[in-house]
Amino acid sequence: MKPFYEKYSIKIFHGDARKIAPAVGLVDFIFTDPPFGHNNNNGDLIARREAALGKGKPGKARPIKNDGGKQANNLALWLFEFAAQNLRCCCCCCCCCGGGGPDPQFARWSLWMDQHLDFKQMVVWDKGKIGMGWHYRRSYETILVGQKGKGKTAWFDESHKIENIIRPGDYGIRKIIPQKNDHPTPKPVELAEHFIKLHTKPGDTVLDPFMGGGSTALACARTGRKFIGIELEARWCKLAVKRLQDLK
Ligand SMILES: C[S@@+](CC[C@H](N)C(=O)[O-])C[C@H]1O[C@@H](n2cnc3c(N)ncnc32)[C@H](O)[C@@H]1O
Repeated sequence: MKPFYEKYSIKIFHGDARKIAPAVGLVDFIFTDPPFGHNNNNGDLIARREAALGKGKPGKARPIKNDGGKQANNLALWLFEFAAQNLRCCCCCCCCCGGGGPDPQFARWSLWMDQHLDFKQMVVWDKGKIGMGWHYRRSYETILVGQKGKGKTAWFDESHKIENIIRPGDYGIRKIIPQKNDHPTPKPVELAEHFIKLHTKPGDTVLDPFMGGGSTALACARTGRKFIGIELEARWCKLAVKRLQDLK
């Protein structure tokens, strides 16, 4: 399949990951942030917040594709099975996952990951104070880490100081409040970069099958890793390309 964009060692494909990814061959690392199934698929929350801040109109939403609960769970199930087949041995898959709330999603996805990969860790990304609201405010997200095979983990940090909590400001990671032209749920580039540096060396190939606006692509460009990204929506492919071009 012809890439939507290809330059240096960055390739972006537009389409459904389940159709495209099986053809990309073996990879050294997967860092991805699939839809969580929290029903951003009507875009309401984001549109309402932007309207309140005077940055948009209610109804001018940017819904996330496949963000219904059942669809998101199906994508997660596909991802873990795919990773077990398409990662090189002892390489890892880091899958962003929700934090807290009434749905114990991180528990369910961890068990699913462990059916296909060797589940290693649930890393907590503490996003810092979130402001006032009702009951237990969601101020963390999780990143599930699983490895293919039981051998020595692909791990390239030598500091021996890496914790399973990322505290506010660690590694320069700050939560992002998306603006009008951003992807509605952007991950900080530094978050992807943190895991990429732990699990790969320069020149390795990183896959993000749910690329969104391309934060993982930027992290790879900044750290000298090869990148393959897949995204269902053309507008987010275009945004990723623009961000890559702005980086140069
Ligand atoms: C949570 S967002 C990723 C955001 C990204 N981490 C960023 O920083 O911009 C998930 C993305 O997966 C995409 N997506 C949903 N279903 C997909 C599929 N079957 N194949 C490829 N991409 C898909 C959505 O369009 C959405 O952009």
